[in-house]
Amino acid sequence: MVLMARVFASMLSMDYACLGETVNALECAKVDALHFDVMDGNYVPNITYGAPLIKSLRASSKLFFDSHLMISKPDAYVKDFAEAGSDLIVFHLETSKNPKKTIKSIHDFGVKAGICLNARVSEKKALPFLQEIDFLLVMSVEAGFGGQKFMPSALKKIGILRKKIDAESISCGLAVDGGINAETGALAVNAGADVLISGSYILKNANLNRAVESLKKL
Ligand code: DX5
Ligand code: ZN
Repeated sequence: MVLMARVFASMLSMDYACLGETVNALECAKVDALHFDVMDGNYVPNITYGAPLIKSLRASSKLFFDSHLMISKPDAYVKDFAEAGSDLIVFHLETSKNPKKTIKSIHDFGVKAGICLNARVSEKKALPFLQEIDFLLVMSVEAGFGGQKFMPSALKKIGILRKKIDAESISCGLAVDGGINAETGALAVNAGADVLISGSYILKNANLNRAVESLKKL
């Protein structure tokens, strides 16, 4: 059962000219983490930023940093993102030839490890890894762009995974990412998500504090 969802702010749709101010505003709004969408123009068509951005923000923020790697070769970059100061590194399951090895290599840096299921990847694929991970991310849009519409098909996946996690007393976060606002966030929490990752709803909102608050109380 989910008592209260944690809120991670996705930095994808922010105004990069106001990076520091936005991080301060998100800290004041009491988000639980910053979620960094790392895209390589290969696994997904879009390109965003890499470890140096995370490293420079690490120096000025104590928030929990979640690096969501949407890249073709996560193994080659675990070190960079760990040393940059990520508290959690999440990779897409199908980008690793040996997910258990990738999970272990993240843990070896003392960083929490998560796997991500893209919108068309079945929840069944996650089952062999539930005992090893700290975080399971269900995409509710096709990874690659911010501001897309929430896909309700994610709710069924979340429900199945929540049952499995509770039945086996597994201690991993169950997150949803893509098109999350107060309405879709409520649906995801009711389905069993305990982490809401939200980008444009928070960062493009005229009242950032109120947007975060509306998600935190779900
Ligand atoms: C999509 C990213 C998400 C997304 C969140 O590839 O992983 O984090 O951009 O942004 P919104 O909330 O705008 O869908
Ligand atoms: Zn993301």
